[in-house]
Amino acid sequence: MQPLVSMHGINKAFSGVPALQSASLEVAPGEVHGLIGQNGAGKSTFIKVLTGVYRRDAGTVQFDGHDSTVTCPRDAQATGIATIYQELNLVPLRSVTENVTLGYEPKRMGVLIDWPKAHRRTREILSRFGIDIDVRAPLGSYSTAIQQLVAIARAVSLDAKLVIMDEPTSSLDANEVETLFGVIRGLRDAGVSVLYVSHFLDELFAVCDRVTIMRDGQTVGTRNIGETSKLGLIADMLGRNPEDIEAAGMTEFGGGQAKLGEILLEAKGVSTGNRLLEFDLTVHRGEIVGLGGLLGAGRTEAARAIFGVDALTKGAMTFKGAPSAPANPSDAINEGIGFLTEDRKAEGIVPDMSVRENLTLALLPKLTKNGQIDRAQEKELVEGYIKSLGIKTADMDQPIRELSGGNQQKVLLARWLATEPDLLILDEPTRGVDVGAKLEIQAIIRDYVDKGFGVVLISSEFEELVEGADRIVVLQDGYSVSELQNPGITENALVKAIAHHYEREAAE
Ligand SMILES: Nc1ncnc2c1ncn2[C@@H]1O[C@H](COP(=O)(O)OP(=O)(O)OP(=O)(O)O)[C@@H](O)[C@H]1O
Ligand SMILES: [Mg+2]
Repeated sequence: MQPLVSMHGINKAFSGVPALQSASLEVAPGEVHGLIGQNGAGKSTFIKVLTGVYRRDAGTVQFDGHDSTVTCPRDAQATGIATIYQELNLVPLRSVTENVTLGYEPKRMGVLIDWPKAHRRTREILSRFGIDIDVRAPLGSYSTAIQQLVAIARAVSLDAKLVIMDEPTSSLDANEVETLFGVIRGLRDAGVSVLYVSHFLDELFAVCDRVTIMRDGQTVGTRNIGETSKLGLIADMLGRNPEDIEAAGMTEFGGGQAKLGEILLEAKGVSTGNRLLEFDLTVHRGEIVGLGGLLGAGRTEAARAIFGVDALTKGAMTFKGAPSAPANPSDAINEGIGFLTEDRKAEGIVPDMSVRENLTLALLPKLTKNGQIDRAQEKELVEGYIKSLGIKTADMDQPIRELSGGNQQKVLLARWLATEPDLLILDEPTRGVDVGAKLEIQAIIRDYVDKGFGVVLISSEFEELVEGADRIVVLQDGYSVSELQNPGITENALVKAIAHHYEREAAE
């Protein structure tokens, strides 16, 4: 069968540095095709060449049997390519409806936008994802997960021949991922092709027919999913032998036992309004405490309470032995609390500043002596983190927006680690980070608590919580409902703990 997408010999360099080198990809009609590779391997760049965001330096692109004439994203849409980019390109201040129908609004008398119809259509599209929200409200008032689902809903509603998803599940919980997979299978059944970028290898086995692996800007091969294994894919991504990887234990995380210090944080009966109702948490020095639960369970709200973003309406907290009620984040930071938020775009990176500036943003007071920044110390520190976290950047003065998504995330993590807060809250710290780097980051978090600091770890990935946390507090609908201790922290136990309370609720 003739491929829908056929890209061959694609080269692309940024100011002389190659990002793609003779990369090739073929996607068959009605196929779900995975695209994987380490952070900075070139996945997003490859997609952007296909969708006309970037102009290729060399190579051929055919789409639907013709040489592609796409030179900008609008062309791509017109030829039947709908794309959800890694960095969501939505307009947070506009309503959900506007975001979904932008450019395709139903019209009355040819000119006026038919808003009732637009709202109705939007509700219809979103209902396929099980989302029932006020579509007139600004998109920005909803969680990152909802925003991501809205972007996906928009793309699949565009009547495309190819839907491209660049890490679509990074902020979705298990249920939402299942819903998305249902939609993807529906697309495939309707003959639509899907190009799917993800670092979650399990997902590839759940939905993909074939997978293309990228490494250092090159495509190293395409595999039928039924004829490969997780280990095989990791080996392809890293360019190593499966045996070596197994021997190095790179597919398992070491579950060491923490050496507990004194109590660092204690929260009792904490509420901040209707999304966090009664929350109890104790964190010791030397300990990683996970917060488990489904989306909307109150994990991020709990973090916001500890960090002084939302004021307590009930309950109390102590920190380092003294009552703690930070009125705002800068209070919390002064007390020794850090918070890596889940939304790197809104609260995290400053796109036009360099890797160095983004990393040392919160550190400048420490690095400044007599009104002068100690450049040598700064350089040492920044280069240290670039090395230990494996941040892929040309040099420390490269603007952070030019880094791949996963590498931007690493810079943000480094920023917080460098300030050495006593308690560091990490909300989805490895979002968008590749398998290898994930392990490195988990090791770095472990080192951090071993120095006597405490960490609160929030992750939608059960695997990450189970492997990374010494204890897991499970939240549901704003309540902390149970706690898992090691030994006894397993994925099964976590799923059960979460499900248990829902079942009980259903029975009541
Ligand atoms: N606009 C740009 N300017 C300069 N360099 C860039 C630009 N966009 C990407 N690069 C570089 O190209 C390389 C590939 O980046 P790309 O974003 O395609 O990686 P990726 O495979 O999508 O990684 P991730 O999994 O982290 O999202 C990286 O080294 C990145 O720094
Ligand atoms: Mg990317």
